[in-house]
Amino acid sequence: MPAPSSTVPMPEVRIMKAIVQSEYGSSDVLSLAEVDQPLVPDHGVLVRVRAASVDAGVWHLMRGTPFLIRLMYGGLRKPKHTILGSAIAGRVEAVGQAVTQFQPGDEVFGDLSESGFGGFAEYACAPEEALALKPNNLSFEEAATMPVSGLAALQALQDVGQLRSGQKVLVLGASGGVGSFAVQIAKALGAEVTGVASTPKVEMVAKLGADHVIDYTQTDVTLAGKQYDLILDAAAFRPFSDYLPILTATGTYVAVGGSTGDFLRVMVLGSLASKADGKQVKSLESKPNQADLVTLKELAEAGKLIPFIDQTFSLEDVPAAIRLLEDRRVKGKVAIRV
Ligand SMILES: NC(=O)c1ccc[n+]([C@@H]2O[C@H](COP(=O)([O-])OP(=O)(O)OC[C@H]3O[C@@H](n4cnc5c(N)ncnc54)[C@H](OP(=O)(O)O)[C@@H]3O)[C@@H](O)[C@H]2O)c1
Repeated sequence: MPAPSSTVPMPEVRIMKAIVQSEYGSSDVLSLAEVDQPLVPDHGVLVRVRAASVDAGVWHLMRGTPFLIRLMYGGLRKPKHTILGSAIAGRVEAVGQAVTQFQPGDEVFGDLSESGFGGFAEYACAPEEALALKPNNLSFEEAATMPVSGLAALQALQDVGQLRSGQKVLVLGASGGVGSFAVQIAKALGAEVTGVASTPKVEMVAKLGADHVIDYTQTDVTLAGKQYDLILDAAAFRPFSDYLPILTATGTYVAVGGSTGDFLRVMVLGSLASKADGKQVKSLESKPNQADLVTLKELAEAGKLIPFIDQTFSLEDVPAAIRLLEDRRVKGKVAIRV
């Protein structure tokens, strides 16, 4: 007798295009493939991705370097997460039963870096806390540049740096993804901002609204005779101790990124170098945070935060976009149109 057919309906699996990687390496390990669309869990939101963006974390994960990143995200020998992409913007396609904040059709942006990545694809799934409604005055491409880099800039200035209006802020790496947001957010919070960049990017940092711009190929900022209440270092390629003389007596140095060695030095030695009632040396560990996404949305809608997009690539050109970023040829952000 033939076996009775099952009466339990199987969820329909649909196919989508995505950029995938099965091993660590240069952008050559990335390829466009057809894969299963993610299914929507009870607490998940399925987003039809309209745009994504590239940041330094993407190429660290692609290469699996520094090795620490393999311990942090899993995948000692080969990547645990085969579709990269943290920062996205798109339209809600479907929601799980337990989702209360979003409904199909909502335009959202968000950070998938704590929920399995997957942004370089036509569809991505995220917990609702990783998303917020998209700023209504920004395109999908503009909104997709904000989640990772904008959140890092906001958290470094506001939470770690405790920035107050009227303070003097120095942004190292001001032309980069984090730096270009940091300059604008610091201005919006009432600071006097000095941005530091290489010669071809000086003009762009001035356009972001920095009060002063220093070309580090011409001037050593540590010898320029000025002091700062807060130093945000998104290009920590020098020991933090170089910057202590240009911090005010109660100033704070915040390491965001740069060379692994210099960043780790801050994590290990920063608290020893900090004085209870004086200079502070800290580092940022940014996290997706819905309230911070809403702050970025409000700053954008108030006209105080305008993503600086250097170039926009299509989904199949994600490898080229990552190469551009690795070669330090990007001003601000690179967007991916999906
Ligand atoms: N701690 C965290 O939670 C966190 C979060 C986000 C990002 N990050 C890290 O923050 C760093 C910046 O990220 P991003 O996305 O802004 O990267 P990015 O867009 O590539 O920008 C990096 C900036 O650093 C400058 N730079 C690069 N090499 C330099 C060098 N040798 N000396 C001086 N300046 C140099 C570049 O400007 P010029 O070309 O003008 O030199 C560029 O503006 C990365 O290391 C990233 O991994 C950390």
